[in-house]
Amino acid sequence: MKKIYSILSVIALFCFLAVSCSSEKDVRQVSDFTEGWKFNLGDEPEAYKADFDDNNWRQLDLPHDWSIEADFSLSNPATPGGGALPGGIGWYRKEFTVDQADKDKTIYIDFDGIYWLSKVWVNGKLIGERPNGYISFRYDLTPYIKYGEKNVIAVRVDNSKQPNSRWYSGSGIYRNVWLTKVNPVHVDYWGTYVTTPSVTDQEASVKIVTRIKNGNTSEQDVELYSVLVDATGKEVATVNVSVKLSASDTVSVEQTLNVDNPTLWSVENPYMYKVVTRIVQNDKLIDNYETPIGIRYFHFDADKGFFLNGKSVKIKGVCNHHDLGALGAAVNVRAIERQLEILKEMGCNGIRTAHNPPAPELLDLCDKMGFIVMDEAFDMWRKKKSPYDYSQYFPEWHERDLTDLILRDRNHPSIFMWSVGNEVLEQWSHIDADTLDLQQANMILNFANTLDNKKIQSEDLHINSLVASKLADIVKKLDPTRPVTTGNNETEPSNHVFRSGSMDIIGFNYHENNWGEEFHKKFPDQKLIITESTSGLMSRGYYEMPSDSMNIWPERWDKPFDRPVHQCSSYDNCHVPWGTTHEDSWRAVKNNPHISGIYIWTGFDYLGEPTPFWWPSRSSYFGIIDLAGIPKDVYYMYQSEWTDKDVLHVFPHWNWKEGQTVDIWAYYNNADEVELFLNGKSLGKKSKEADQFHVMWRVPFVKGTLKAVSYKNGKEVLVKETKTSGDPVSIKLTADRSKIKADGKDLSFVTVEALDANGIPVPVADDLIDFTVSGNGFIAGTDNGDATDSTSLKRPRRKLFSGKAVVILQSGRKSGNITLTAKSEKLKSATIDISTHGD
Ligand code: GAL
Repeated sequence: MKKIYSILSVIALFCFLAVSCSSEKDVRQVSDFTEGWKFNLGDEPEAYKADFDDNNWRQLDLPHDWSIEADFSLSNPATPGGGALPGGIGWYRKEFTVDQADKDKTIYIDFDGIYWLSKVWVNGKLIGERPNGYISFRYDLTPYIKYGEKNVIAVRVDNSKQPNSRWYSGSGIYRNVWLTKVNPVHVDYWGTYVTTPSVTDQEASVKIVTRIKNGNTSEQDVELYSVLVDATGKEVATVNVSVKLSASDTVSVEQTLNVDNPTLWSVENPYMYKVVTRIVQNDKLIDNYETPIGIRYFHFDADKGFFLNGKSVKIKGVCNHHDLGALGAAVNVRAIERQLEILKEMGCNGIRTAHNPPAPELLDLCDKMGFIVMDEAFDMWRKKKSPYDYSQYFPEWHERDLTDLILRDRNHPSIFMWSVGNEVLEQWSHIDADTLDLQQANMILNFANTLDNKKIQSEDLHINSLVASKLADIVKKLDPTRPVTTGNNETEPSNHVFRSGSMDIIGFNYHENNWGEEFHKKFPDQKLIITESTSGLMSRGYYEMPSDSMNIWPERWDKPFDRPVHQCSSYDNCHVPWGTTHEDSWRAVKNNPHISGIYIWTGFDYLGEPTPFWWPSRSSYFGIIDLAGIPKDVYYMYQSEWTDKDVLHVFPHWNWKEGQTVDIWAYYNNADEVELFLNGKSLGKKSKEADQFHVMWRVPFVKGTLKAVSYKNGKEVLVKETKTSGDPVSIKLTADRSKIKADGKDLSFVTVEALDANGIPVPVADDLIDFTVSGNGFIAGTDNGDATDSTSLKRPRRKLFSGKAVVILQSGRKSGNITLTAKSEKLKSATIDISTHGD
């Protein structure tokens, strides 16, 4: 059988070579459609008309998030449960022409995501509406195009009703837009579904289902080729079949390829193949479509957790919201890649797309970089969590939105689970404030403050379970290869979602006391994933003593917590009442083999939900990494546990008041013990007890040098020194990349620090720095990770927070240099050059 296949493959390859001279590029043109748009903030009821005068509108390139441009000090973007974001109504317009030569083509516009309630017109005709702010969608422009003439596309985005989200959503066409030109016979939108029904180290079968659309009003005969191409570009297997397409019909064609000795996709070696689909008619190539794939197999086990390619792998993941800090929600591939690089460096191997469909580029990067993704659809079903949220569109749109999510994403090898909901209120039949635990109470109290009717309606178990089952069924029909789960903060079997019996994996949010062996008593034979955990609260570089008692434990979560300093201590001793310390949640996961893994809340700080302080704080304290992308101390706890590289991280800084008692923590690995020296004098060696993740010394502060040395079998592994600094005198700029692409999109992240007269970084510096830029680029944003800093993140001015800030430089489209200058009243200025290049 295998032999016949390979003979067929060879024949197919020859056949294909005979026709491949037709220009491959021309058969499917996908162009970036993000340049040269006009924008107006505010409603313009006539702006849908083709001849509307938009001369005074602002010119910009997409992706664009208008909310991030607002001055945060003027609005209240975030309170838990959803605050009012600088939203409003925005209009976008773009003129474009389509050549006469393309008269016979089918022309689509593809939006990756618009937040939200978008309506699109072309040449004055309404072509579609989409409430969901995170879903990707396509419109067929063909019937409305005027060939060889000016065409106008107009998009109205309505984010005026606030609050409609529990986190910062952003506003506008904040993801990419594409113009796709194809022949009338073509691979449909998200038109391939590639699975690997059997995989071993020796052989894999690759099943390809291709949906071919015939846009002609006559029957068509075509040949469909599917070619498997490896990462080096080599065609490793080919299959072809003749297909008869009825007039104006769409057909699904199934093919199977076999590949010998496949290189399997894993988190360490995320090896990518691609399936190239070619449609050939009368020896002419008429469509060419690529589907990146990975070959791997996996399963979840009720007793032993998650297995990838036959090997046990603990999912060490984080939840992230979609904003990119100072860039807001506007998608930038380099900004996403940088986030993933920082996480990968920490040893993180998983991402949960909390709580919505992500940008497609995030998934492409997770494929290439090796992350285990939980792709999540919804944060609410029919019951609302904030007054104007998606619950109002759920009844009409859930099926379409969920279907589109699965169709779009199901070929990504990085996706291993679908989540159809996060902490949906349908978990309960009724909510009675007297019987709630703290977490539920917090949730309800927050929401009750904002709900119109102030009353959560009683719901029937039957209806709630039906919704859960229906969503799971939608997913299963489209992708039976991956399990379905939900994030649940009701961890008892009485939860209506569990009682529906439709979840393949039980997902727990928090409640770590229920993760251990008693899980199996309550849920016999079920698999467990910690969909969300921890919710630690930390401000980078900010410390309060003592470190070994809980630092903040507010009792009233229905009110903002208040105290003079709106910061949370960076020792791992601060978390929400429903959460845990990082160490506690990781310990529970590490010690329980049946737990498949954990998605920590959160990898990065995000805009909105500034628990526990609320407005005027405007971003979260939950991140392992701050909003500017600078790791907090606990990052190194994970690095010491999750990677093999040598780690020794000692904190806090060494600038304190003389005589003050300071707790010094060290995270380390690959060593038996750590010795601490203060000004050359040993303060003793410490080693972690079993199940401990740090060691601590309590020391009266004396200025000078703190030195830590880790030892393995008596031999030094690492040495770390921290010195007391003097006052800041100069600025230091360090770029993550000094050479970037001149594509108008690439970024260099420049870290700004203050140094003392001896060149020692000043960890407590808070100088205000002004930035100017010249050359081929601009400042896309500035940040310092301080959740209380309400200066617009777009301003070229920022105070240092705990001694640091970050400037995000974005390239223009010319090769050359970007020169960034940083000035501050009392400090010596600094300059850095970033080169931009065309290749
Ligand atoms: C969870 C929720 C998250 C976030 C988190 C904060 O309950 O799923 O979206 O709000 O709490 O601790």
